[in-house]
This record gives sequence, structure tokens and C-alpha cells, in this order.
Amino acid sequence: MNNIILCGFMGSGKTTVGRRLAHILGCRFVDTDAEIERTAQMKTSQIFAELGEPAFRRMETETLRRVCSGSRQVISVGGGAALSEENVSIMKQGGTVVLLDIDAKTAVGRIKDDGSRPLLAGGDRLAKAEALLEKRRPLYLRAADIVIDSRNSAVVTAKKIADTVKM
Ligand code: S3P
Repeated sequence: MNNIILCGFMGSGKTTVGRRLAHILGCRFVDTDAEIERTAQMKTSQIFAELGEPAFRRMETETLRRVCSGSRQVISVGGGAALSEENVSIMKQGGTVVLLDIDAKTAVGRIKDDGSRPLLAGGDRLAKAEALLEKRRPLYLRAADIVIDSRNSAVVTAKKIADTVKM
């Protein structure tokens, strides 16, 4: 499965970069969060609130398994997807895992405060993002085959990935 799988923190640009990268490479773009919402017929925030995070994580693993079995796709995954070993193994079997590396301040600056990110909702979003990213970054690095600095514009980042990763 020669997919390119983009992982990283919320606000690292996975969806925007992913769309551009798929356009450059002339292949399909799939966003696993969008796939989960389409299958569940519910928004992510609603899934978290009504069914709970563990239910969302189960849906995420099922969706990853299905999507990663296809080929020649750019796949963007949610910020929590690279945290479980099972998911990492599915992603690695599906293709090259690229980490869009970002700092908490830049990430929070990019994320709309519209309730669509339940893990940052309410209170000091920057403090929450900093604490979460500090815990997660080692796991992101462990999951990644390639690490790309994602503080640049989506166009620059997408070109960098296209030049680096062979599909
Ligand atoms: C999550 C990130 C979100 C979404 C869900 C959980 C996380 O995706 O999957 O809210 O645990 O970091 P994005 O990274 O696309 O915002």
C-alpha cells in the first residue's frame, strides 16, 4: 500500500497540506475524521459528547484499517491516531507515515475556537495544547518515518513532502 499518511497535532495542517499534496501527486485525498463523521452521521464533537472518547477511538481504528488498505492516497489522520500501537502498525503497513511537526502556539493560532476540537474546548487552550503536545510528541516521533517542519505555509510544506517521499 503506497499511501502517504499525515499525522501530527491538531492545527499542524494535516488536512490543508494533505489536499495540496494530493493535488500535486494527482491522487486521492482522504481525511479519516471526515470519514468517521460520514459513517457515524455525527460531528466529532457530538461523538465525544454523546458516545465518549473510547467510542471515537474505536471508530478511528476501524476507519484507519479500511482506508489504509487502499493505495495511492494521501491520508490525513486525527491528532490522536498515532498514539496507539495498533493504529501505528496499521498506518505503517499502509504506507509512509509523515509527521507534520508543530509547536503548540502556532497550532492553537490556526485552530478556530468553534467547539470542533473537544480536547481543547473550555479554559486556556494554549495551556491545554502545550500539556497535550508535550505528552504526545515522543509518540508522534516514534510513529513517523519522516518528520517535516509544518510551521511554513501549506504550499511549502506540501512541496517539501512531495520532494521527499516517493509514492
Ligand atoms: C483529536 C484530533 C482531532 C479529532 C478529535 C481528536 C486528538 O483531529 O480526531 O477531535 O485527539 O488530537 P485533528 O487533529 O484533525 O484536529
